[in-house]
Amino acid sequence: MCGIIGVTGAADALDILLDGLERLEYRGYDSAGVALVSAEAIDRVRIADGTHSVATLRTATEPLAGRSSTGVGHTRWATHGHPTEHNAHPHLDCSGRVALVHNGIIENHLELAMRLSADGHTLASDTDTEVLAHLIEEGLARGEDLTTAVRSTLAVVRGAFALGVMTTDDPELIVASRRISPLIVGVTDTAGYLASDIPAVLDRTRNLIALEDDQVAELRPGSVVVTDAAGAPATTTPLNVEWDVEAAQKGGFPDFMSKEMADQPAAVLDTLRGRRGPDGVIAIDQLDLSHDDLARLTKVVVVACGSSFHAGLVAKYAFERWARIPVEVDIASEFRYRDPVLDATALVVGVSQSGETVDTLQAMRHAREDGARVVVVSNVVDSSMAREADGVLYTRAGPEIGVAATKTVLAQITALELLALHLAQVRGTMTHEQVAVEFDELLRLEGVLAETLARSDDVAAVASGLSHATDFFFLGRHAGYPTALEGALKLKEISYLHAEGYPGGELKHGPLAVIEPGCVVVAVATGGPLKEKMLSNVAEVKSRGATVVLVVEDGDEDGAGVADYTIRVPAARDMQSPIKDIVPLQQLAYHLAVGRGLDVDRPRNLAKTVTVE
Ligand code: AGP
Repeated sequence: MCGIIGVTGAADALDILLDGLERLEYRGYDSAGVALVSAEAIDRVRIADGTHSVATLRTATEPLAGRSSTGVGHTRWATHGHPTEHNAHPHLDCSGRVALVHNGIIENHLELAMRLSADGHTLASDTDTEVLAHLIEEGLARGEDLTTAVRSTLAVVRGAFALGVMTTDDPELIVASRRISPLIVGVTDTAGYLASDIPAVLDRTRNLIALEDDQVAELRPGSVVVTDAAGAPATTTPLNVEWDVEAAQKGGFPDFMSKEMADQPAAVLDTLRGRRGPDGVIAIDQLDLSHDDLARLTKVVVVACGSSFHAGLVAKYAFERWARIPVEVDIASEFRYRDPVLDATALVVGVSQSGETVDTLQAMRHAREDGARVVVVSNVVDSSMAREADGVLYTRAGPEIGVAATKTVLAQITALELLALHLAQVRGTMTHEQVAVEFDELLRLEGVLAETLARSDDVAAVASGLSHATDFFFLGRHAGYPTALEGALKLKEISYLHAEGYPGGELKHGPLAVIEPGCVVVAVATGGPLKEKMLSNVAEVKSRGATVVLVVEDGDEDGAGVADYTIRVPAARDMQSPIKDIVPLQQLAYHLAVGRGLDVDRPRNLAKTVTVE
């Protein structure tokens, strides 16, 4: 996600902004920019130079040194609009009197942009953010001061935001506010600061406050005044920050993997944001396939690697049940060397966090050459796959730094289920009410995931009991089968232990022969149509001496008696269940790896993105 910083009352404001942006680079970004304000003008410089953007920005802004003591800066991780200079922040209003930086997603930006354009505003970017600058411009034109104009703007926007706004009318003031996206403000005797992340300002002040939803902060040199949405004084709690910069970059977690697991509720919710219209219709803005194209489809083929392949396997169940369309899921490196049967009625869906994995990229190219329609589910805007595909469905998990995919996998399953619901609506295979039930269940996952994550200590206790085990089988059935595959991959990847994922019913066709005392079987038995059959499979391994770890939903006692260890998860509908059932398996892998003293963020022999065959 984007990073923001602001400062007022500092002679070296520009340096502070650039240093802060450097401290935000670790999150990954595609472009960066700063703006400095004075009574006369706003000076703005934006650079879209990938991960070199802040360094390039430092050179490009040399002529602005000492120009102003108030400014804002931004590192952008594109969600709406390409990662180009004209989409980089800060954004300005029509008059050039207002500049702002934003982190988050404005869900109703399209309707606001249409209204603003009709009223004569010129929108200069493709972002969801820019509407905010023009709405604030309108408030100032009505005679409101900046704080009031920000407040009246926030009253009409839906979605998530953390923002910093300044105007030439009051050049020592920065107005900051947030809803859902985090924002901190801080002061010294002479300056005021804002930032999306603590590391950006940690070397300037530790006198910090985390704003609550809809609070508005007015920052001036040496002071900060925080009010609530109605303008009444707000109670604030100072942050007690004992972290150094490195710990702060990980949000206080010991490693990126645990931070990214903790990000999962937000990753799922952000991927859903703004994608169901008020009429209940699922809308995927950059899919670029007409209803006729979608209605004509005869099959869906998912191509992907690793964890993304597992997300595709989960989606197969959703597409087939909801949209009643045949689905093939193929390992990308195999797909391209077969001779797949494709034509214009096939929809090929590439699934890739990075959008750069060479096997998936080549598989998608192959499919296009064969005349298929090609879309990609990617976490990186304008990745190679996104540029080449007919349509894109972006996940909004934010940058993922740990090599083991966690939050991006959950976001991929969410996005694919969204696509399946969209297809079901277009093909008329589900009623409006049925779609609403499934979408609402996806929305409910935010809370379900938070509850699941909160039980990490229970999983740690299981991991500690298994600390001497070296052989693991992960079993699941139906949508629990890809869940099992993902659990096994996570364990292999970060703990270097032998693990295999299997469909529970397949055991007796061979693998049962290797089950013996000492072998650990992790069985996903969380509801779904085949839970009872799954429990029979568990009984088969138990009677051969395996140590059984059973993953079951709250209140389910059906498996009592067969398990050596039980991991409980909150209940969910079966199609959405993998999104939360994967979490305890990530936690199990994590705790086993940490117990073995391994670096969970950088496992041996592996790269985050595989760009060689
Ligand atoms: C997952 O933990 C792995 N790091 C790996 O399997 C990954 O999912 C795979 O390489 C695909 O990457 P992509 O999603 O960027 O295409």
